[in-house]
Amino acid sequence: MSDTEDRMNETASVRKASPESISEGAALIRAGKLVAFPTETVYGLGANALDDRAVASIFEAKGRPQFNPLIAHIPDFSWAAGFAEITETASRLARKFWPGPMTLVMKRRPDCPVSYLVSAGLDTVAVRLPGHATARALIEKAGVPVAAPSANISGTVSPTTAEHVRQGLAGRVSLIIDGGPCAVGVESTVLDVTGEVPVLLRAGGLTVEDIRGVTGDVLFPEKDPELPRSPGQLSSHYAPSLPVRLNASEAREGEALLGFGPAGKAVLNLSPSGDLKEAAANLFAFMRALDKKEFSGIAVMPVPTAGLGLAINDRLKRAAYPHRVTQRS
Ligand code: TXA
Ligand code: MG
Repeated sequence: MSDTEDRMNETASVRKASPESISEGAALIRAGKLVAFPTETVYGLGANALDDRAVASIFEAKGRPQFNPLIAHIPDFSWAAGFAEITETASRLARKFWPGPMTLVMKRRPDCPVSYLVSAGLDTVAVRLPGHATARALIEKAGVPVAAPSANISGTVSPTTAEHVRQGLAGRVSLIIDGGPCAVGVESTVLDVTGEVPVLLRAGGLTVEDIRGVTGDVLFPEKDPELPRSPGQLSSHYAPSLPVRLNASEAREGEALLGFGPAGKAVLNLSPSGDLKEAAANLFAFMRALDKKEFSGIAVMPVPTAGLGLAINDRLKRAAYPHRVTQRS
């Protein structure tokens, strides 16, 4: 058995940041495992952002009842051009504040390789170049963008030490890299930079005053209903244009059947073997694939609500009731 395999079979080990632990973490990420790592804001729970199943296991480990979109972390600005459309505003902010506590939400390029689960099905992708050298070294060595929410169980406070991470996630993560306490201690500022003026989606470590110094202006979604919102707000979640019918046992005339478990006639099957992690990994990509004019609707077979099934069902319900969802936001 290789070192890496050995490591995977252990429950969370905490290792001081070093070239060795960083190499080990990078190998684990490439192998589809979860690695907690320090950033200057809070500790992140990282997985290969190109690997749908690895990203699904982030939600599983956090026990998140919903698929919020995640940040793809990169070690160098040049990587962003490979998956996002970089506006002039994005480029100016990135040159000034990266590496640092700022996340930029940009349009996905048509050929963007980042998992749709990272985007929670949206046409945008959030990108951050962290200021912490260990984080950058880890991502650089892994050679893939790293999807990472804060490394805590859903609904608990964000961790700013490796010990916080261990308390919450021991046994759910392959490795915790200890880089000491986080210098900033609050999450990154999230900005939608798809337009000319940045829209503040989440206040964080980079101040509005600093941002104004570069762009002159910043917009606040709570003051303008027309602006994009953080996907915590239901209305901005990806919704298919076709009607979605839940708990279907078979497709009606014109419908595409999205299967789960044994299903002979499904156009696509979230997981023929009934594996919830596989289903979560496929969910957004498959909904998009079926959202085509050739069908009159999408009929979805029942998915159990245990484990990741809760988040899958949350998402499916929103897809099935877009109008109610918009009103609730
Ligand atoms: O400081 C941080 O940002 C930490 C470290 C680990 O980098 N990460 C973090 O991730 O706080 P998380 O998942 O807890 O928060 C990500 C935020 C959420 O508010 C989410 O809604 C927003 O970023 N976000 C991610 N992708 C988005 C997208 N495509 N459009 C709009 N908002 C997005
Ligand atoms: Mg968080």
